[in-house]
Amino acid sequence: MNVYDSQRIAGILQNMGATEAAALDEADLIIFNTCHIREKAAEKLFSDLGRINLIKEERRQNGKETIIGVVGCVVQAEDEEIEKRAPFVNFATGPLTYYRLPEILQKIARDKNIRLIDTEFPAESKFDHLPENTAEGCTAYLAVQEGCNNFCTYCIVPYTRGVETSRPVEEVLKEARRLVATGAAEINLLGQNVNSYHGEDAAGKERDFAFLLRKMAEIDGLKRLRYTTSYPADVTDELIACHRELDILMPYLHLPLQSGSDKILKAMNRRHTAGEYLDIIGRLREARPDIGFSSDFIVGFPGETDEDFAATLDMVDKVGYIQSFSFKYSRRPGTPAAVYPDQVAEKIKSERLNILQEKLFSLQLSFNRQCVGKIMPVLFESKGKRKGQLFGHTPYLQNLHAAAPAEAVGRILPVRITAATMNSLTGTIVQQQPKRNNSKEV
Ligand code: 5AD
Ligand code: SF4
Repeated sequence: MNVYDSQRIAGILQNMGATEAAALDEADLIIFNTCHIREKAAEKLFSDLGRINLIKEERRQNGKETIIGVVGCVVQAEDEEIEKRAPFVNFATGPLTYYRLPEILQKIARDKNIRLIDTEFPAESKFDHLPENTAEGCTAYLAVQEGCNNFCTYCIVPYTRGVETSRPVEEVLKEARRLVATGAAEINLLGQNVNSYHGEDAAGKERDFAFLLRKMAEIDGLKRLRYTTSYPADVTDELIACHRELDILMPYLHLPLQSGSDKILKAMNRRHTAGEYLDIIGRLREARPDIGFSSDFIVGFPGETDEDFAATLDMVDKVGYIQSFSFKYSRRPGTPAAVYPDQVAEKIKSERLNILQEKLFSLQLSFNRQCVGKIMPVLFESKGKRKGQLFGHTPYLQNLHAAAPAEAVGRILPVRITAATMNSLTGTIVQQQPKRNNSKEV
């Protein structure tokens, strides 16, 4: 979602006639888009700001002004900190109000000394005010839903991105068609809780996420469809049917489990048990036997015992994730779990994270190794690391490099996988030759 927001911010600036600077010290305007999900992410902002202030000072000595802005969730949660710790920041605005950038920059142009800090949750939708979105390559993000009403007890998102809102169906489809018209072959629909989407259709009727997926699948020229992030309890029968019926929907689903212990899931205020989660996985597998799953995990949530942690490891084995993201629990001020009494020691969190990651990484590596020898359709997206190579993704979002001509960018080609590491695959394009009667199929 942050990448998407950054792209939209760049779109606003381009619309105003700005161009990308070749280097930081050549930039007249520097904007940080920020994340507040864990303490580390937020702290990074303040160290980066200190570094940028040195550039601002140096430029000032050369008679050049630099405007520094902060956008995103850190602003929503730490506006006073920014004001105190970074007085050189010219403006700060939350993730729902960055559409006001033209207005903000005009005000600053009139008076270089004003400081603007905006943490309002606006009544209007930012999407009504943003310039039209265009694809930057052959894969694109598209935000369809924003904010969250789930209030998982560890999570800051409902406080920074606000309550859940869905964009109207037609607005999403219009943006999708434009992304395809400007080069997108793949679209990834985004939302904090994307499968609880409930946007209005043209007749004002509320529609669910499965309806939106089916409409997306009808878009001419769109070749791949993904969505992230899903909430397990909101996986409906209709959504499962989409995985059975829509070929365009990639056989890969990010479905965060967070913990395998029912006690911890309850304390996290997740609306599912481990058993219910497994049931959803089973039904998705039945609908789409080749589907692969990824997840987010938090270790060391308050009250997590060795037994609870063992239940998480057990679930990892049961599901067999092909990729995952795992984190140590981070106390977010203002969330309920931050003041739970039974906080887990940092050392234990680190130990558990190591154990979990070892398991997750080895599963990922073994899945990648299983792909060696297989032929997979790959969407080539950009130049590769080496000359003559292109970079792309398999349906399972595995990174892939293969020798390929530059014209293959934007196309999906069959690739035989020749080697695998944990983070990427290598392959060779399978030439699609017309079949001859006496030739064997390879
Ligand atoms: N501490 C650690 N991880 C967190 N996440 C969200 N909040 C926290 C927190 N306070 C993780 C969850 C979520 C992912 C985006 O970030 O696993 O799914
Ligand atoms: Fe945060 Fe996701 Fe829970 Fe919403 S569903 S509160 S975004 S972890």
